[in-house]
Amino acid sequence: MTEDPIARFQEEFARAEIKETIDVNAVALATCTPDGKPSVRYVLLKGADQDGFVFYTNAESRKGRELAANPHAALAFFWPTIYVQARVEGTITKVSAEESDEYFATRARDSQLGAWASQQSRLLSSREALDHAFEDYRVRFGDGPIPRPPYWGGYCLKPTRIEFWYGKPNRLHDRHVFLREGSGWREERLYP
Ligand SMILES: Cc1cc2nc3c(=O)[nH]c(=O)nc-3n(C[C@H](O)[C@H](O)[C@H](O)COP(=O)(O)O)c2cc1C
Repeated sequence: MTEDPIARFQEEFARAEIKETIDVNAVALATCTPDGKPSVRYVLLKGADQDGFVFYTNAESRKGRELAANPHAALAFFWPTIYVQARVEGTITKVSAEESDEYFATRARDSQLGAWASQQSRLLSSREALDHAFEDYRVRFGDGPIPRPPYWGGYCLKPTRIEFWYGKPNRLHDRHVFLREGSGWREERLYP
């Protein structure tokens, strides 16, 4: 039986977590318009298990709009301290409202206010406009609970391809690719 690449990802992540000192969960997320124009940016991974790879963002952002029109996406992690790259490709669905609510509730209050204040990826007239929006929401919510903005939530990438790249001397790196086949995985090696 081929090994489970999700379990391998969790092991590599745990190994990286020990050594990386900042944002071990930062991951480049590539999305694409329906006519094939790509864009890429970093997000923070908030979970990885058999259901998929989860991150949170604003659905009205550029990435949110691209994902609404084309659910295919790709992730790339690089952990320099262990010299490992992990690449994940698949399709994205939205995390349930309940799960997004739960996660939003764990965020720092100022981050919650930030989610309300930021019309992510839309044109901003000045820094002051953003700071004013933040202050307006701070006053509006007072000391009460801050609900999750309806446009903000989790996305889950269900992988069909996962690659682990292990840096080796002489550029003779090891590449292990796992391709989804039915309910299991097929493993291949690639030239570096
Ligand atoms: C290390 C790092 C982590 C980030 N994490 C997130 C995140 O989890 N969610 C998010 O919406 N933006 C995150 N950002 C900001 C995004 O990179 C990006 O600027 C923003 O989401 C707007 O992207 P878009 O216009 O392509 O939608 C992060 C940026 C960096 C550098």
